[in-house]
Amino acid sequence: MQTRVVVGQPWDVEADVLALPIPSDASLPASVVEIDRRLDGALSAYRTIGELQGKPWSSAMLQGRETGAPWILAMGVGEAAAFDRLTAVRLGAAIERRLTDRAVTSLAVLLPQALLETLDVAAAVELVTRGVVEGSAEPGAIYRDGFTSPPVLDVLTIVVEQGDPAVLAAAAERGRIIGEGGNATRRLSQRAANDVSPEVLADEASDLARSHGLQVDILGPEQAEALGMGMFLAVGRGSSNTPRFIVIRNGAAGATDSKGRLLAMVGKGVCFDSGGISIKPADRMEEMKTDKTGACTVISAIATIKQLAPDLPIMAVAPAVENMPGPHSARPGDVVKAMNGKTVEITNTDAEGRLILGDAFTWAERNGATHLVDVATLTGAVARAFGDQITGGFATPQSWWDEVAAAGALQAERYWQIPFIADYRAEMDSAYADMQNSGSAEGSLIKSGMFLAEFVTKPWAHLDIAGTAYFRKAHPWAARGATGVSHATLVELALGGI
Ligand code: BES
Ligand code: ZN
Ligand code: MN
Repeated sequence: MQTRVVVGQPWDVEADVLALPIPSDASLPASVVEIDRRLDGALSAYRTIGELQGKPWSSAMLQGRETGAPWILAMGVGEAAAFDRLTAVRLGAAIERRLTDRAVTSLAVLLPQALLETLDVAAAVELVTRGVVEGSAEPGAIYRDGFTSPPVLDVLTIVVEQGDPAVLAAAAERGRIIGEGGNATRRLSQRAANDVSPEVLADEASDLARSHGLQVDILGPEQAEALGMGMFLAVGRGSSNTPRFIVIRNGAAGATDSKGRLLAMVGKGVCFDSGGISIKPADRMEEMKTDKTGACTVISAIATIKQLAPDLPIMAVAPAVENMPGPHSARPGDVVKAMNGKTVEITNTDAEGRLILGDAFTWAERNGATHLVDVATLTGAVARAFGDQITGGFATPQSWWDEVAAAGALQAERYWQIPFIADYRAEMDSAYADMQNSGSAEGSLIKSGMFLAEFVTKPWAHLDIAGTAYFRKAHPWAARGATGVSHATLVELALGGI
């Protein structure tokens, strides 16, 4: 898809469809009023009978008249003063989804200045573009041809009233690239476990990384054994689909960014989480094919970052395993040794994410990481606490959390910091090892962080996307299924180091 930004009049723009945001305020933006005049008052007529009152994502298609576009899509966005980054992303996505199955290859979206009281025009252009791209993702089409899908666009034009055309063109491209990276995360995340084993995930990661000129290292079980990754291997043992430790890097050995950092993005790659011997109930177990989402996120994010900052030194680490019951599985009560030398009693084989992440943190630090951020579908508890709209997380030190959350805010992704209370560490004690991997249910969300913290010595942030990684039902601005959450945050965080 080609992006284009026009600083000018929306009625002059040629496209199959021109989308107009309709705020819920009493008066319409001046450019929308002029289009209404050209449509012979059609928009006002709709509004007179109670249509198009600006309620978010309510919409109507009208025929164009004296407009470069033969069709006009009017779509509610709520109060103009409340138009923020999240609304911008959702507007783009809702427009694209509203056009599902329509014969459209070129789309123009008007961003009237009246909506941009608090938002910089370049940010709005980027986020609306990202939204249109993300709106095109349709999980129903992954394994089927010809499935009802949002249109494949040749050209997307964003129309604004003011701004530097070169700056805005770059913003639209940034939005397109980040949106496409988010969609790549989502596509990979929701592919089935009989399709994407750890080996296949490693192949996909290699193909993507090489196509972008990134360095790839895939470690198999023997190499992991030699490195002493006892926790990672314990999880993978139950499956005949053997583990892969995926590493993608950019930059020369020892290179750091403008802040003297080497950021390691670590993603949980459990290709299927049955729970292992501590097996899960059958209800919704099929969702556990998405337990590899953190891995998909970091693999895709590093490819996105490479396109936006080709020289930035950075690393993505994705331990990939299948957590299955079997004759070789880890058993409750097994004691294993982590790569950093600590011993762990596995009291619950379903608390597997923290085991593979712990060894990945050690590997990343030993290979030059100065800062870590992990993305993981780690706990059911975070989903119960925050639902599917807010990602819970921890970080040490506080300033590192603040940086991650600020990057998230720029990309309209919402985070909430979970308290970190060292008092609970004692409940992770084990009679036989330095700690157990799963304590009692009380405070289990905090304890998941206490466990992970045993494997880091550098600034580290943990983003638990178990609630936000996929939507169980569709929204006007998103399909049911994987959301790609945190991909954009990682990209924004990394680009802070250009
Ligand atoms: N992958 C699950 C967490 C999960 C649950 C993700 C629901 C998405 C939706 C994780 O490996 C897990 O099983 N966590 C356990 C931890 C417990 C055993 C300490 C959980 O949340 O129950
Ligand atoms: Zn899991
Ligand atoms: Mn589990």
